[in-house]
Amino acid sequence: MAPVALALCWCTAVLLSTPPPAHSYTGDPSTAPGPSPAAAEPTSSSEYKTYIILLKPRADAQVMDDEAREGWYRSFLPDDVTAHGEPRLVSSYKTIFHGFAALLTEEELDAASRKPGFGRWFPDEMMYPTTTRTPEFLGLSKDAGLWPKSSYGKGIIIGVIDSGIESRHPSFDDAGMSPPPARWKGTCKGMVRPVRCNNKLIGVRSFVDFNPDDETGHGTHVASIAAGNFVANASSSHGQAAGTAAGIAPGAHLAMYKACRPTGCLRSNVVHAIDTAVGDGVDVINISLVRESGVLLDKDVVAIGAFRAVAKGVVFVTSAGNDGPDSSTVNNDTPWEITVGAGSVDRKLAAGLLLESGDLVEGEALVQAPNSTAYRPLHYPGEGCRKVSVERTRGHIVICDDARVKVDVQARIIKNLYNNGAAHVVLIGQEKAGFTLGFREYGSSVVQEPAAVGHKLKDYSQYPDSAAQVFFKGTQLGIRQSPTVAYFSSRGPSRGNPRIVKPDILAPGLNILAAATESPDRGPFRFMSGTSMAVPHISGVVALLKGVHPDWSPMAIRSAIMTTADELDNDGKPIMNEKHEPASAFAVGAGHVNPTRAVDPGLVYDLEVRDYAGYVCHHFARARLDDDDDDDYAVQDILQDLNLNCRNVPRLSDVDLNYPSIVVPANKKVQRTLTNVGPAEQYTGRLSMAHGVGVDFSPKWLSFSRPGEKLTFQVSHHGSEVAEGFLIWESNTHTVQSPLVVLRS
Ligand SMILES: *[C@@H]1O[C@H](CO)[C@@H](O)[C@H](O)[C@H]1NC(C)=O
Ligand SMILES: *[C@@H]1O[C@H](CO)[C@@H](O)[C@H](O)[C@H]1NC(C)=O
Ligand SMILES: *[C@@H]1O[C@H](CO)[C@@H](O)[C@H](O)[C@H]1NC(C)=O
Repeated sequence: MAPVALALCWCTAVLLSTPPPAHSYTGDPSTAPGPSPAAAEPTSSSEYKTYIILLKPRADAQVMDDEAREGWYRSFLPDDVTAHGEPRLVSSYKTIFHGFAALLTEEELDAASRKPGFGRWFPDEMMYPTTTRTPEFLGLSKDAGLWPKSSYGKGIIIGVIDSGIESRHPSFDDAGMSPPPARWKGTCKGMVRPVRCNNKLIGVRSFVDFNPDDETGHGTHVASIAAGNFVANASSSHGQAAGTAAGIAPGAHLAMYKACRPTGCLRSNVVHAIDTAVGDGVDVINISLVRESGVLLDKDVVAIGAFRAVAKGVVFVTSAGNDGPDSSTVNNDTPWEITVGAGSVDRKLAAGLLLESGDLVEGEALVQAPNSTAYRPLHYPGEGCRKVSVERTRGHIVICDDARVKVDVQARIIKNLYNNGAAHVVLIGQEKAGFTLGFREYGSSVVQEPAAVGHKLKDYSQYPDSAAQVFFKGTQLGIRQSPTVAYFSSRGPSRGNPRIVKPDILAPGLNILAAATESPDRGPFRFMSGTSMAVPHISGVVALLKGVHPDWSPMAIRSAIMTTADELDNDGKPIMNEKHEPASAFAVGAGHVNPTRAVDPGLVYDLEVRDYAGYVCHHFARARLDDDDDDDYAVQDILQDLNLNCRNVPRLSDVDLNYPSIVVPANKKVQRTLTNVGPAEQYTGRLSMAHGVGVDFSPKWLSFSRPGEKLTFQVSHHGSEVAEGFLIWESNTHTVQSPLVVLRS
């Protein structure tokens, strides 16, 4: 049987509808972390807080043993314990950072920062996590293609930094799995609660407690999307979306690094988790936590951690965030991360209304019910159905606007309507969600209508004697047009790097059925939505590509994923956004991931760690972010590597990075270099862009005669239009496509 169900869910649905208040963690530059403690928020100065401290790199650091390293770290602390007797050293990093987290007062931090060798400090803040069908929708099948070719991701280790894991879930059975590779240094030891580790789940560590359990269900869901094993007969608790569940890389190993609790994820724990995961030997880190958008690099310790992980060959996959559809809401936007946006899948749990006028109003219902046998009067009371008259509810189809409240509050409103005798309840989504419809678990059968369709129903209900029948059609596949960009998926341009197209790529993130933690009122699989659910799809694809191409750099892997992405939907039209308008590159990135094509891209835009270092140098020289006089020294705090400094790397601006998407400002020329990873072939270039935009490129063809050969081309923009399109290199057997954006400045 072909795998049908993939795991993703709606736990993020709760987060989507009631997101953590963005302003509370969106970086305000005046209170942002930084090298200058004077910029900190005023607080009682004798209060202890956790600070993350990065030290300047030292030549002997690589050869230090744990004891010597800890001695070095402790030399920045006044003593070992606080006045309250708590150990000061909260965590010490040893793989990718020279640094630690410690409890200090402001004065003590100030004193530490004056010691030679101190780099920079960061406050410890909360970050927030941003969920059956998807392998098949992505063209993965047991019969042919990337799954068998990559042995399903065999031998690759995906590290998930999240909320813990339900280790006994059948998605984490190890049937058919080999033992982990010999380089694996992780462990499942040290947990107070039993954890089932095996050849699938090869590591579980917790940085928040000694308990592997997943209190939110987020980590379990995400892990199963990336690398859950095959589970026959999976479906939602209401029997929908039935099929064989499988992660994107069902043969890959998983390691869970628990850094989150229901209240959020402390930055110091996330950084500790990244440091440990890289040391354990993971190949891919999937992290779907929201960082502040627009925070500059030197204030963002997780971005620095991502850089260090990529420098060690680990692929870092992050979520664009759930703050869409407004522009400039994208998170996790550094050039070294793969930033993933969320799209819909081609599945519907179909339901709707047949109006007495003969019109159909189609929607979905997570809990399906029997068809109505007669036309029932419609009633739209407004105000989120909080105030309804019993007479106008009994026997009626009651139409409610989404009250934009927590799911349990909404569920109570709905239950009240049924208690008052409603025949059916129809819930209309938020206006800004357009055609996006995310399932939420209300407990009773509710027909959910996207706002873009629901207004028809509301208008019709205003006619006297308006009536309708409710129908349910069950799970339907092959729905057109799919994918579309989910409304919540955060959009570029990024505030920190506006001239790098972010997000990079779109992957399934709406109504994803995946593993659920145990709960008395639902089964082992549940729906969730969010860019968090899109991230593990890409982590899984990365694992498959690594299985086939173990020698590719993280940047080559990202390039392969981007230049082979689909820019058309399953109806052959440009991918649409939530309003069913063509989506911008700043919503879809390079397009929707196509794993089968990604394994054989023909050419890649490769980048070296030195290039990223050159970008950091350029960034600092340009923006003068730092109050440290010595650019080099400041940059070394970030790069954490004595071998990289601004004198020995080429300074590269954002537009000059050899990125797989291309941005050309007005009257500028940018250069790109392609590396041949396919056969000897001639490629012809082609622009797909509105006529009259002053864009040109040269040369017009590139002839590769051997593997590994590099050839260069230029793209120029003579004019000041703003436009989007593609630059496409085609050979007889490959198409290498880049989004091309021209800007005024
Ligand atoms: C799946 O469910 C069907 C129908 O309930 C049953 O016949 C079949 O044996 C089940 N397969 C597995 C592997 O449990
Ligand atoms: C990937 O990261 C996201 C965001 O934290 C998380 O929700 C998800 O569980 C992770 N999944 C995997 C497989 O790493
Ligand atoms: C309910 O009505 C729909 C639409 O007419 C139809 O497709 C479906 O088969 C019906 N369901 C049942 C159980 O009869």
